[in-house]
Amino acid sequence: MNDKRYGHFDDQHREYVITDPKTPWPWINYLGNEDFFSLISNTAGGYSFYKDAKFRRITRYRYNNVPMDNGGRYFYINDNGNIWNPGWKPCKTPLDFYECRHGMSYTRITGRKNGIEASVLFFVPLNTFAEVQKLTLTNQSNETKKLKLFSFEEWCLWNAATDMENFQRNFSTGEVEIEGSTIYHKTEYRERRNHYAFYHVNAEIQGFDTDRETFVGLYNEFANPDAVVEGKPRNSHAHGWSPIASHYIEVELKAGESKDFIFLLGYVENEQDKKFVAPQVINKEKAHAIIEKLNTTEKVDKAFAELGEYWDALLNIYKVNTGNDKLDRMVNIWNQYQCMVTFNFSRSASFFESGVGRGMGFRDSNQDLVGFVHQIPPRARQRIIDIASTQFPDGGCYHQYQPLTKRGNNDIGGGFNDDPCWLIFGTVAYIKETGDFSILDEMVPFDNQPGSEVTLFEHLKVSMDHVIKNLDPHQLPLIGRADWNDCLNLNCFSWDPNESFQTTENKSEGSKAESLMIAGLFVVTAKQYVELCQKIGKEEEANRMQKAIDAMVTAVKKDGWDGEWYLRAYDFFGNKIGSNECEEAKIFIESQGWCTMAQIGAEDGMVAKSLDSCKKYLECEHGMVLNNPAFSKYIYEYGEISSYPEGYKENAGIFCHNNPWVIIGETLAGRGNDAWNHYAKILPSYVEEKYQTLHKVEPYVNCQMVAGKDAAKPGEGKNSWLTGTAAWMWLTVSQYILGIKPQYDGLQIDPCLPTTAKEYTVQRKFRDAEYNITIKNPEGKEHGVSQIVLDGSVIEGNTIPYSAGKHTVEVVM
Ligand code: BGC
Ligand code: NOJ
Repeated sequence: MNDKRYGHFDDQHREYVITDPKTPWPWINYLGNEDFFSLISNTAGGYSFYKDAKFRRITRYRYNNVPMDNGGRYFYINDNGNIWNPGWKPCKTPLDFYECRHGMSYTRITGRKNGIEASVLFFVPLNTFAEVQKLTLTNQSNETKKLKLFSFEEWCLWNAATDMENFQRNFSTGEVEIEGSTIYHKTEYRERRNHYAFYHVNAEIQGFDTDRETFVGLYNEFANPDAVVEGKPRNSHAHGWSPIASHYIEVELKAGESKDFIFLLGYVENEQDKKFVAPQVINKEKAHAIIEKLNTTEKVDKAFAELGEYWDALLNIYKVNTGNDKLDRMVNIWNQYQCMVTFNFSRSASFFESGVGRGMGFRDSNQDLVGFVHQIPPRARQRIIDIASTQFPDGGCYHQYQPLTKRGNNDIGGGFNDDPCWLIFGTVAYIKETGDFSILDEMVPFDNQPGSEVTLFEHLKVSMDHVIKNLDPHQLPLIGRADWNDCLNLNCFSWDPNESFQTTENKSEGSKAESLMIAGLFVVTAKQYVELCQKIGKEEEANRMQKAIDAMVTAVKKDGWDGEWYLRAYDFFGNKIGSNECEEAKIFIESQGWCTMAQIGAEDGMVAKSLDSCKKYLECEHGMVLNNPAFSKYIYEYGEISSYPEGYKENAGIFCHNNPWVIIGETLAGRGNDAWNHYAKILPSYVEEKYQTLHKVEPYVNCQMVAGKDAAKPGEGKNSWLTGTAAWMWLTVSQYILGIKPQYDGLQIDPCLPTTAKEYTVQRKFRDAEYNITIKNPEGKEHGVSQIVLDGSVIEGNTIPYSAGKHTVEVVM
């Protein structure tokens, strides 16, 4: 491995600092917190959208292009014929200095060339439908400089999917308006759209362009647009083709002088009867209001400071100090940040997800919830109601829903039989964090049908029942289309490459396909359900479910155990999957994770054996692989899982999402050293050197998959940012390793540590209380609290009873 470095952490500023623009893959960040969102790479590539990356795409992006990362917000500086960009791309003129600082919902990119510094701060202010680009130009030379500045954005024609394909229409629809220093994009506004976008700068402009071909030149690239090269805007007015927005500004800077320009990329929605102020003239009132709010450096700096305070507040809720920077920075900054991003984006928009394919996942969103519920409980509450509203009356679920409409997505439908359980998982996490049992009484519809409302509790009940009512031959849960592993398609039976593995069921009648993953998931979530029922006085319901749990445990012990580990599934015909008897894929991680978390057969040594088998067969240098050995050929009965080459994705990749399940299993077994070793292997800051070259993707967040030991290139990371890994890493470290667990009545303290951990503190805001917790481990124990002193008095057990106010807690292991 070479030791080339592209960047480093700056913990004090909560930033990752990239010092070489040619990262092994674009290293991106996310802007926006609620409605208006942007993706931004370290060279300012990326795009913006309002709420929905498919239906309200504001700017255009080109995926998988040559060169990589094409399209973005670009500033061109023409300094006497010398043309460059602060972010290096697209001109790629070598810079005298380059730096990109990705922080919490902002990115600052700085370039210097021939005595000029250009620094751009990108962020979306709170409660604002606009991206701010504050460009500061500074003349660091000894002479006066005259610069020609060109901005550049390319509009997307709103629907990101049709924008990429329906050119017979698209090339005729584009429309813009220009007013002063603002360029308005109003394609389709004349008909059914009530929204437009705009690009503004708070300075007088000496020209503009809105037609791409005129500005760039048909056979040029973004690197050498005609207008920029000649230093002359065309003042073009787009009619159809590809509308863009480019401002032209002549800037004179004396030696040492510095000037700010505030660019705003905004979005506006108007009421149907207020769309126009004159025939064809759009109503710009709301755009003017956004501009007015942000048209000076002072106003922008204030908005930026508010964003910083917002993040201070979010990150002050759980703060650890272990003295180990690598751990602390992930827990206190980056892991929590990634959780918030996955909450906002689910799996829709990243540099691996095009934003056109998928809405919000039912199971994904419930899992993401445990990563941010402590930070923004009201939004978690709303998310739970939104998700539950897409459920069917029998407890089954739409697998996905669109964030704009909040409706279930018919293209994918339902039938993923793990989905219902996750609603309990998410809801219980919410109530334990907030103590808000009233959510259970909320009236929530099925499939968004008015009139079908029942309480949320009833939704939880039908969720559980959905599992119990769909058991078969071995009294184990039927898998349906797939369980958590979308690629274990046991009813698919496809020989047709045009069929989707996700939605095709060529054979389901008489299926005997059962899932041990769902069995474990059921036991874990049904135990949560029983505890909840007891808590709210539903004893009978608790007893009913306890019987179902006991039956499931019996079934797993009888037909789900392979001798050294838990089986993974039974296929359509009732044959074992994930058994020593199988030729390939003898062991899978998911059932080890869930059945150990469920503690099934712990008393018979099954849990310990399963965890040992994970170490023996699944663990490798970069983490634990999903299955072993990898499938080397396509298996008709199994579906997509066997479609991937060995070591990638669901075929024996290190699917980081599921490593924490085994890690939590380890902590429940009290095996702190093993838990820590597994955890550190996939903790970005611990393997940051690897990220620089081998992993390729961003070193400050987890990626969904790292190529496994059977891969051609083990250790290569892919699919960064939008992954359930974020929430699971958070749950694992905050609750199971550091051991601070919200319970209905208080905070349980139950760490499981490596023997080397001797002392740490956690500051935890919990409901209306704040706990300052010190944990001492003088004997280097892995597990077991021996004493807790709360505000000076020893308490019984390991749960601190909740009471508002500030508290000091001293814990000795
Ligand atoms: C991927 C899965 C994903 C599924 C649904 C599959 O191709 O391997 O990770 O969940 O598609 O989008
Ligand atoms: C990614 C999907 O978003 C998630 O729902 C699924 O569980 C995993 N892939 C595993 O297939």
